[in-house]
Amino acid sequence: MTKRQLKLGLVPTGVGGPGDSNRWLDTDIPLDASVSIDWYVDIVRQAEQAKFDLVFIVDSQFITPHSPPHYLNRLEPLTLLSALAAVTSRIGLVGTLTTSYNDPFNLARRFASLDLISKGRAGWNVVTSGNAGTAGNFSLPEHFDYDTRYRRAVEFLDVTRGLWSSWEEGALVRDRATGQFLDADKLHRLDHRGEFFQVAGPLNIQRSPQGEPVIFQAGDSDQGRDLGASIADAIFTHAATIEQGQAFYADLKGRAARLGRDPDEIVVLPGFSITVGDTDAEARDIERHYREQDQSFEQALAEFGRPFGWHDFRRYDPDAPFPVEALEHAKSSFYTQAKKVTDLAVAEGLTLRQTVERARAWRGSPFVGSAETVANEIQRWFESRALDGLNVHLGHPAQFTRFIREVVPVLRDRGLFRREYEADTLRGNLGLSIPGNRHEQRDRRRNAA
Ligand SMILES: Cc1cc2nc3c(=O)[nH]c(=O)nc-3n(C[C@H](O)[C@H](O)[C@H](O)COP(=O)(O)O)c2cc1C
Repeated sequence: MTKRQLKLGLVPTGVGGPGDSNRWLDTDIPLDASVSIDWYVDIVRQAEQAKFDLVFIVDSQFITPHSPPHYLNRLEPLTLLSALAAVTSRIGLVGTLTTSYNDPFNLARRFASLDLISKGRAGWNVVTSGNAGTAGNFSLPEHFDYDTRYRRAVEFLDVTRGLWSSWEEGALVRDRATGQFLDADKLHRLDHRGEFFQVAGPLNIQRSPQGEPVIFQAGDSDQGRDLGASIADAIFTHAATIEQGQAFYADLKGRAARLGRDPDEIVVLPGFSITVGDTDAEARDIERHYREQDQSFEQALAEFGRPFGWHDFRRYDPDAPFPVEALEHAKSSFYTQAKKVTDLAVAEGLTLRQTVERARAWRGSPFVGSAETVANEIQRWFESRALDGLNVHLGHPAQFTRFIREVVPVLRDRGLFRREYEADTLRGNLGLSIPGNRHEQRDRRRNAA
């Protein structure tokens, strides 16, 4: 049996994601990083040289003046990933697209195109969108409530995957000698009629070398976890402590096992920023310096309303008790996250200021220290099943360079991380099997019966 291997992803948030309002002041970051293909090519090539499994492009479609700098002005994920596909050969290309503001046919076609352009390296992070304001950009009076959002996501995925099964192996005969282009028996309509979608099919694009794009899921609510456990190949999440990581890992894999899935066929990847110094003390100093510089309390307070449907918390006295009534505004937004913050404030009797500070501290990383210390800690999390791999937040570029040059070689020397890619496809590198084409599977079942 081959030894279990750590997986690595890269999350580039250019001029600064949540909590990083001032990161763009770092002169190592081009001022236009979030919309510069040259910048993306440069960092993704670095990640590919270091044998990272994937690059993950987060996304949303609603902004306010208080949105993080990267969110204000950034490239659309599939357009960006298609450009990256042409200048890379092994790294997986994963992007967020929402099931709430797309149609399955469109999305299935675009991801299948990326999967073919990249020769089997596409991944889709399925989200239902937590930004309630997005509805206003898509001709809807309001965002779907949680149950509707997730019901729609389940049906959306079923339709998308059904469309990806339109073409059986060998459907495209393309035989110049006989003049036969197509074996029509191997091309299938879908004829889906459901609660949200009516889709005839077939999809007008064949399957890729990895069969279908890899499905990622990042919802943390009960519904989100069930969706991940039932259909995802990999899970993006956050974990502040090893215990939290282990609890999420066990919960998710337990849900999958109860649904009859092999838990090893789901890769759990929490995201972290990582700070490396010459010594542990220096790394802590670097982290403190960045934390103080990257966001002021006023900026944190303005951004704090994001999970609460962008409710404006600046209207409250920061030193009065946390305004619990604000949770009402999170109902169709990032409710799970908003509820966690509110519960903490109530349990500990915190003021708004203290709550904002505590929420910022959650973003702190367990991976801060010398290269040796960081590698030890990653190994501990990996071996105690708090993660199968980690998504590294690019953050300040100098830190990403240190991670690649100093930490990755230690992980490699310990036999935890690859020296060479095992496969040409993302699915292959993540150790996932190719999903069967629904029609081929049905035929096999019929023949076996
Ligand atoms: C690591 C991670 C990455 C995420 N990336 C995105 C993203 O790119 N776009 C987005 O709209 N939501 C993103 N989300 C949010 C969720 O997918 C989900 O919509 C949100 O957490 C609200 O649903 P929930 O209460 O089920 O978690 C991400 C969540 C996590 C944990």
